[in-house]
Formats: sequence, C-alpha cells, structure tokens
Amino acid sequence: MSLYSHPGAGWSIRHWRRDDYPQIEVIFRECLAAFPWRGSARDEVLRLRQALSANIAFVAEEKSAGVVGFLTLEQGKAYVPHVFVDGDWRFCGVGSGLLQVARNFVGRPLKLDVDIQNAAAIEAYTALGWREQAKVGRGSREQVRLVGP
Ligand SMILES: CC(C)(COP(=O)(O)OP(=O)(O)OC[C@H]1O[C@@H](n2cnc3c(N)ncnc32)[C@H](O)[C@@H]1OP(=O)(O)O)[C@@H](O)C(=O)NCCC(=O)NCCS
Repeated sequence: MSLYSHPGAGWSIRHWRRDDYPQIEVIFRECLAAFPWRGSARDEVLRLRQALSANIAFVAEEKSAGVVGFLTLEQGKAYVPHVFVDGDWRFCGVGSGLLQVARNFVGRPLKLDVDIQNAAAIEAYTALGWREQAKVGRGSREQVRLVGP
C-alpha cells in the first residue's frame, strides 16, 4: 500500500519488503563510498541488516528504477538510524518524503544523528527545518543530534 505518492515525479513510498533488500544494499554501499571517514562497509551493512530486521522501514520506489531511497525507523524512540537516497534521485523530494512518512507514522518529531563531516546532509536537514539538539559521539564518529519539525 502506498503511503505517499509524489504527484509529478512518479515515485511513491511504502513499507519495505524483504525482496527490496538487494536494491537497498546497493544504494547504501554507494552512499557509504562517499563517506571515507566511516569504518568498514561490512560493519555498516551488518548494522543496516539489524536495523531492517528489528525496526520499521520505508522505501521510495519508482516504476522503472525500482527502489530509489529508504529509511529505517526506531518507532518507540522516533529515531531514524538510516535515510539514504540513490545519487541519481537526490533533490527530487525523496528524502523529505521519506522523513514526512516516518514523521506521520510516529506522530511526533523525529531525531537522527548525522556525521559532522556530512555537510550535504546537514544542509538538507537545515533546509527542512531540523535543528541541532546536541553533539554526540567522539573522534572520527563525531555526530550532531538533530530534531525534526
Ligand atoms: C541527505 C539526503 C537523504 C537528502 O535526500 P534528497 O532526496 O536529496 O532530499 P530532498 O530532495 O527531499 O531535499 C530536501 C531539502 O534539502 C535540500 N537539499 C537536499 N540536498 C541538499 C544538499 N546537498 N545541499 C543543500 N541542500 C540540499 C533540498 O534543496 C530541499 O530543500 P527545499 O525543501 O528548500 O527545496 C540525500 O542527500 C542522501 O541520501 N545523502 C547520502 C546519504 C546521507 O547522507 N544520508 C543521511 C545520513 S544522516
């Protein structure tokens, strides 16, 4: 069942299914390649699998491209461990659509942690009205805790 459909761009958002996993992992690995400060992709992929099996997740899907973005959600904490959009589909509203669906799902403002090196994502969240709540983590994993509108 579609939870949100973009009126012009042809993608929609729904709950994830197990058969989405190969495309989710491809998007995730491609995004991680742009984060040289992160540790091994293997550990990150393990954490992604754990997040998918323990939590709620949504995918954005377009008919011919398939999965173009995904988000994992710890419902009880209103916390978003992952929001990742395929590089070819950025600036199309996919990220904000996924965050809006998750926000509607939990019914209160969301939180997430973003690496301080990830300036592009911080700009995107700022554009969407998120604000800094605290600094978290240490060393190469220093992050900013953001809270959404
Ligand atoms: C961060 C990310 C999820 C944003 O997704 P997206 O689909 O491109 O975002 P949207 O198209 O919904 O854009 C939302 C807003 O952010 C702005 N924005 C998006 N990317 C931006 C960037 N790199 N720089 C500045 N602003 C940006 C958009 O212009 C838009 O603002 P507007 O509402 O004023 O027009 C995406 O860039 C991504 O997947 N990055 C790699 C993975 C990552 O860093 N994930 C976050 C980990 S915490």
